[in-house]
Amino acid sequence: MSAENLILIGVALVAIAAAAAAFAIAYRRSSDWRSGVNAETLAADRSEVAEPVAVAAAQGTEAAAAADAAEAPPEPATPAVEVVSEPVVVEVSPEEAGVTRRQFFNRALGATFATFMAGFGLASLSFLWPKLTGGFGSDVNAGNVDELREQLFNEDGSVTPLFIPEARAYLVPYEEGSLSPQFRDIGVADRGVMALWQRCVHLGCRVPWCQPSQGFECPCHGSKYSLVGEYFAGPAPRNLDRFVLEFNAADELIIKTGSIVQTPRAPVLTVKYPQGPSCIAATVGAEG
Ligand code: FES
Repeated sequence: MSAENLILIGVALVAIAAAAAAFAIAYRRSSDWRSGVNAETLAADRSEVAEPVAVAAAQGTEAAAAADAAEAPPEPATPAVEVVSEPVVVEVSPEEAGVTRRQFFNRALGATFATFMAGFGLASLSFLWPKLTGGFGSDVNAGNVDELREQLFNEDGSVTPLFIPEARAYLVPYEEGSLSPQFRDIGVADRGVMALWQRCVHLGCRVPWCQPSQGFECPCHGSKYSLVGEYFAGPAPRNLDRFVLEFNAADELIIKTGSIVQTPRAPVLTVKYPQGPSCIAATVGAEG
């Protein structure tokens, strides 16, 4: 299992633990019924509930009693019955009381909030977490360098750069003897290839390759660059930016897209440009 997977699993476990803790807090608060009752009510709950109640037995209305007394033979006097009810206070445990509607909604609200926060946290982390392997901003394995270089040349001798989508870079060839000194010893040119960032150094448009002219021509404001990304014309302030290259033991090219190298405008082109008609109508802005 990779380090990235372990980290993501760890983050997920922490989020789940946080959600469980939030739920436990909500449960504990809602299960203590005294916390929701004010002190006055609690005091009243503990006090004597009522004075003894005396209930006199009575039979019928006064009129009926008088009539009965007149008609019926005298009966022995019945003593009044006094019923005294004692207040009974029964303490009910939370378990016996069960879950009230308020407690249920409190818990449901707490659980929903915790679940939402956990999901939101995970989504945010996955978005912000730096990519440890692959993808732009990291080291991109483009494949065997010899095979890659072979793909750059056409039968008619022209060149078609190889676009590496993961690195957002064009792989271009160069001839060892003619390479400009400004590209040497800075790690951007090795084994006959360079990786140029597709982004125009003027305002950031994606710069397409122009096959007829054998150069890169920006459609936004007309900046033009040679095959190896040397500035030729337009408002661009420098050459196309490029990435540091490395090679592993299997001769695979590693494009370090986290290491971008800038170079000044080329005083002299080391690769002829243009070699044919341009792909854009005219260059806009300053030249030279
Ligand atoms: S963005 Fe390319 S020339 Fe302006």
